[in-house]
Parts: sequence; structure tokens; C-alpha cells
Amino acid sequence: MERSKILMQLESFISFIDYYLFTISMDFAGGDIVRELENSSIIVTGAAGFLAKIFIEKLLRVQPKVKKIYLLLRAPDNKSGIQRFNSEIVSNDLFRVLKEKYGPTFNTLIAQKVTVVLGEISYENIGIKDTNLLEEMWGEVDVVVNLAATTNFDERYDVSLGINTMGAMHVLNFAKRCARIKLLLHVSTAYVSGETEGVILETPYHMGETLNETPGLDVENEKKIIDEKLQELDDENATEKDVTLAMKDLGIQRARKFGWPNTYVFTKAMGEMLLGSSKGNFPLVIVRPTIITSTYKEPFPGWIEGFRTIDSFAAGYAKGKLTFILGDPNTIIDLIPGDMVVNAMMAAIVTHINQPNDEEGMTIYHVGSSGSNPILYSSIQDYDQRHFAKHPWIDAKGKPVKVGKITVLKTMDRFRSYMAIRYLLPLKVLLH
Ligand SMILES: NC(=O)c1ccc[n+]([C@@H]2O[C@H](COP(=O)([O-])OP(=O)(O)OC[C@H]3O[C@@H](n4cnc5c(N)ncnc54)[C@H](OP(=O)(O)O)[C@@H]3O)[C@@H](O)[C@H]2O)c1
Repeated sequence: MERSKILMQLESFISFIDYYLFTISMDFAGGDIVRELENSSIIVTGAAGFLAKIFIEKLLRVQPKVKKIYLLLRAPDNKSGIQRFNSEIVSNDLFRVLKEKYGPTFNTLIAQKVTVVLGEISYENIGIKDTNLLEEMWGEVDVVVNLAATTNFDERYDVSLGINTMGAMHVLNFAKRCARIKLLLHVSTAYVSGETEGVILETPYHMGETLNETPGLDVENEKKIIDEKLQELDDENATEKDVTLAMKDLGIQRARKFGWPNTYVFTKAMGEMLLGSSKGNFPLVIVRPTIITSTYKEPFPGWIEGFRTIDSFAAGYAKGKLTFILGDPNTIIDLIPGDMVVNAMMAAIVTHINQPNDEEGMTIYHVGSSGSNPILYSSIQDYDQRHFAKHPWIDAKGKPVKVGKITVLKTMDRFRSYMAIRYLLPLKVLLH
């Protein structure tokens, strides 16, 4: 089945979940709250990403009097940067409401307000080589929104540390050079707290702090460990594939040593630590969303991009591929629609741009649903079943896929027995 059809089916499914999940939304489409952003210049990193698109669309929709929006994205040259902006951002269906709102003046709005900037946050000056543009931004930018990240859980350690940890630092250094700067809003993840249970406070992680109290975490030392490993691999004439595997393993190994479940959240946590230890009295707000799903309301319900987290589960089930799952049905899964995250980001920006800076602290916001709208693992299965029974997935041959009840395996013991009986035994018989 073509990708767009798959995504349409998913979008309709996710908005169905969201309908049940979220009965309230911070809807401020009226724009009062964003009056503060009139005549402000904002740079958004990771501009071609999922959350960034929702942010950019909303900003242009509710505050067209913003002075300038600089969009930092990765591209080899200006032409491909503009091409990326046109094909991945403004041509995206997400922008259809904005296009309807502005009609023939849409292109003028974009031309007047948006500047595409080529850059890579893993480098100093966030990789911006155009010195004129860099100078312009240092004089213009009021707010920096850092959304660039690698969200691969098992990314190469050197890559992940370069973007999620050192990248955050480079963004702070860039923001510090902006003469008019009012705020750096850094988007992190709620999972910097790893698998901690219960109520998690909006408190910072200090340099060296670990989730399992293992001492010795130090970003400089982590960089040294990476360099030594890369040198060792080079001495052994390791292939690119071997280097990638070794770097992925190293990331997981270092994350687990200090109590984090994967490289992504570990490097994001170290990014927060670096920001906290270097900010001084710089105005910094960290937003930590949980699992982000499709939009709840704005610009329209159900917009999502690609298969991300919970959507892979839905797609697997709908296609009839996912017949069992491992997990406690009473576990609460924290999901939050993308537009609610963006609303929270905007509310945080306008709240903090005019506040005095606090040398000691920084403000952290958890953006999730489990406190006010908890959703059980079992409810997701129920929504899956009800939705796809009514609106079945259409397979490559154009036939609807029938779905049934999913077997839930609550413990590892049950999982092992299930695998042995359903798969291992028949395989052994077959091979005999
Ligand atoms: N999605 C979620 O469920 C979720 C949940 C909690 C927190 N978050 C956080 O929210 C933020 C945005 O996430 P997302 O879901 O929108 O991720 P995404 O769709 O993967 O977008 C991330 C963007 O960052 C860009 N990027 C990566 N490395 C870069 C670099 N070195 N320099 C410049 N740009 C770079 C990517 O560029 P390319 O397009 O060139 O690859 C991509 O466009 C991240 O900080 C993430 O940790 C996300």
C-alpha cells in the first residue's frame, strides 16, 4: 500500500485515540497569549522535524506579526536548503489551514517572515557558515527554540553525544551571543528520568548525577572514551559497518552503566546537565514532553508524520502482524498530542521572556498527560480493536485486514512459554 494511504489510516486512528484521551486542550488560537511575540525574531533549530513543523505552522498562524523566523536545517547548499523547506515544510499537509487562511498572500507572508539557515548544531556557531547571516542573527534574535536532536534510541554514541549533548551546548553559546536575547527554550524529553516510577519532579539534573548513583559521569570523560574507542577501531582497520556497530554498543553500554535505558535519553540528560552548568544567569527554559502523538485539534486533528512511537504499535496491529504484546495492561502510558506540546512551548516562551533571570535555577516543564488524563496500556488495545474492526486496514491487494484480540503476556515467564509453544516447538518440528 502506498505510504500516504498508510499514513491516512494511521492519522484517523491516532485522532480516535486522542479523542478518548484528551477532553481538554490549551487552545489559544485566538492569539492573545502570543501578543508578546509581535515584532520578535525567533530561530528554530531542527526545523524540518515533526514537532518543529507544528511549532512553525502555529506561530505563523497565530502571530503573523512576528518579525522574523529563522529556520535552521541541514542541507549541503542554499538551493537544497530552500528545496527542503519547500518540499518538507510548507508543502506538508499540515500547512493547508494556514494556506487557506492567507490565500494568495501566503507566499508573501513566507517570503517576508521566513529565512532558511543552513546549519548543524553539532558544531560551534551551530554550524552556520554564512557569516553575514550569523552577524544578522546575533543582532536580531530574541528567542531561540532548540528542537534539533537525534531521536534514535540506539544511535551511534559519537553522533548522539555530538547532537543531543554538545549540540545543546552549541545552541546555548549561539544564544549567548545574541544581543537582544530574551530566552532559550530547549526541548528535552520526560525520559531523561529513565525508568523512574511515581511522580517525577521538574528539577534539573546536575553534572555528574546518575540514575543509579554510579559515580564518575562526566561529559569530557565520555568524549575521551569515544575518541579512544574510535582510535582503537581505526588501528584495527575496522570497516564503517563495524565502527557503527561498536559506537552503537558503546552508547547503550555507557547509558546502562549510569542507569539510563538507551543512548537517546542518556545523551539528552547530559545535554540538560551541560546547559544547567553553563547557563549562569542566562534565561533558559527546558520543556520535557512525554510520548508525542498526532495533533489533537490544531491546525486539524490527527496530523502525524511517519511511524514514530505508539503508531508503530497501531500499524502492526492493524496489518495483522502484531498478535501478542508483553506488558502489564494496567501500566499507564503517557501520550501527549503535538499541538498541546507546542501550546505549552509557546505559553512557556511568553511567560518567561519578560521575567528576571535566576542565576541558580532554570525552569523545567513536564508536558504529559498521565497526571490529568491517564491512559492504560489495556485501553490502547481496546481502542485499536474497536477502531480497526470498524475501519479495517486495506492491504496491498485492496482487501480489508481482519483483526482480533491481542494476547497480553504479563510476565517474562509467560512470554518465554508463549514463544516456546507458538514458535520454537513448531520450528524444531519443521527442521527435523
Ligand atoms: N517525538 C516525540 O515523541 C518526542 C518526545 C519527547 C521529546 N521529544 C523531543 O522533541 C524534539 C523534536 O523531536 P521530533 O520528534 O520533532 O524529532 P525529529 O522529527 O526527528 O526532528 C529532529 C530534527 O532535528 C534535526 N537535526 C538532527 N541533528 C541535527 C543537527 N546536528 N543539526 C541540526 N539539526 C539536526 C533533524 O534534521 P534532519 O531532518 O536533517 O534529519 C530533524 O529535522 C527533540 O528534542 C526530541 O528529543 C520528542
